[in-house]
Amino acid sequence: MKVGLIVGSLRKESYNRKVAEAVKELFPANVEAEFIDITNLPLYNTDLEGENGTPEYGRVREEVRKYDGYIFFTPEYNRSLAPALKNLIDVVSVDPNGNAWAKKPAAVFSATMGPTGAMASNLALRQAFVYVDLIPMQQPEVYLSTIQDSFDEEGNMTDRTRNFLAKAVDAFVKHAELVSRQEN
Ligand SMILES: Cc1cc2nc3c(=O)[nH]c(=O)nc-3n(C[C@H](O)[C@H](O)[C@H](O)COP(=O)(O)O)c2cc1C
Repeated sequence: MKVGLIVGSLRKESYNRKVAEAVKELFPANVEAEFIDITNLPLYNTDLEGENGTPEYGRVREEVRKYDGYIFFTPEYNRSLAPALKNLIDVVSVDPNGNAWAKKPAAVFSATMGPTGAMASNLALRQAFVYVDLIPMQQPEVYLSTIQDSFDEEGNMTDRTRNFLAKAVDAFVKHAELVSRQEN
């Protein structure tokens, strides 16, 4: 199984990226987890399609298609999702070769320095899954609040957060296996 990790925060020191990096190490040996880079993906625009358009749409569509499931890592911006993630969902949904999201398992892990765990963002992103037919893991919910406290001074993640994430990753692998059995 190949799992794509997608980070919605574009800044270098992103906590969501740090969480994703920790998650990458928590998969069992039979699961390959890799990052799908969306840092330079232009906002969706039909004028950028086709031969004279941006190569980024084709590149990211091809990459997304390679994976059997996805974990989205989202911060929260004004009580909603990271626009970079919604943009990726849109770009891939109108791939001329078909919607690569359809019937694939997905999870949302949200992290914020604030107290709410970016729950509004997490739920908004799961709403965006509906029409493109991504199949969400509903439980456990992964809302990481005051995420800066989950790292020590050397930048190591606390055991408490890592153990919580390990359980969520385990649940995601089971969810992905179940979805893939149902679809095949
Ligand atoms: C425009 C903007 C709006 C924000 N709105 C929220 C918000 O509604 N809820 C929240 O918890 N944090 C909010 N934040 C804070 C970020 O989500 C938080 O700092 C988080 O750590 C950013 O994720 P990152 O570290 O992965 O970049 C906002 C930040 C920005 C720049």
